[in-house]
Amino acid sequence: MTVTDTRALRDAFGRFATGVTVMTTREGDGTPRGFTANSFSSVSLDPPLVLVCIGNNAHSGPAFRAAPHFAVNVLADAQRDVAKLFASRSEDRFDRTEWHAGPHDLPLLPGSLATLICAQHKLVEAGDHVVLIGEVLETQISDGPALGYHRGEFITI
Ligand SMILES: Cc1cc2nc3c(=O)[nH]c(=O)nc-3n(C[C@H](O)[C@H](O)[C@H](O)COP(=O)(O)O)c2cc1C
Repeated sequence: MTVTDTRALRDAFGRFATGVTVMTTREGDGTPRGFTANSFSSVSLDPPLVLVCIGNNAHSGPAFRAAPHFAVNVLADAQRDVAKLFASRSEDRFDRTEWHAGPHDLPLLPGSLATLICAQHKLVEAGDHVVLIGEVLETQISDGPALGYHRGEFITI
């Protein structure tokens, strides 16, 4: 394959098994925003940094670029429907799932395996995505099977 072959590139990227997160934040007017992301990665322990890559065509991109804070909800296997909901273009995602306001008024999804409260650290433009780097301010964890993603399918980890 050549790297101009998008299907082949997607197939190669898809061989890398990942966890699944929902990134959440608020728009300036308080509207909750969130989308499913598997490009999440830890970056640094000191200072504590994480990243997520946001597609330039994501509707919630402008909200995440502008927001001083965002949350990473690391999904449990039981949250497969939540992952699908936040990967959809549905405008009423937050009316169709349980959530509550956490630190910095961030929308948080109950039942997540980990919650990371982050302050925006840096935005790095990279091709058709922006890399959002966050400094982790607070964490919460719980135990149980994780939701994963491999070769375009949700899996149990
Ligand atoms: C498993 C999975 C992982 C995804 N990871 C990302 C990601 O890392 N970055 C991204 O921009 N979109 C990702 N998406 C796509 C978004 O979730 C999807 O485009 C969503 O509709 C974006 O919502 P928005 O347009 O309201 O921002 C992923 C989708 C799935 C199913």
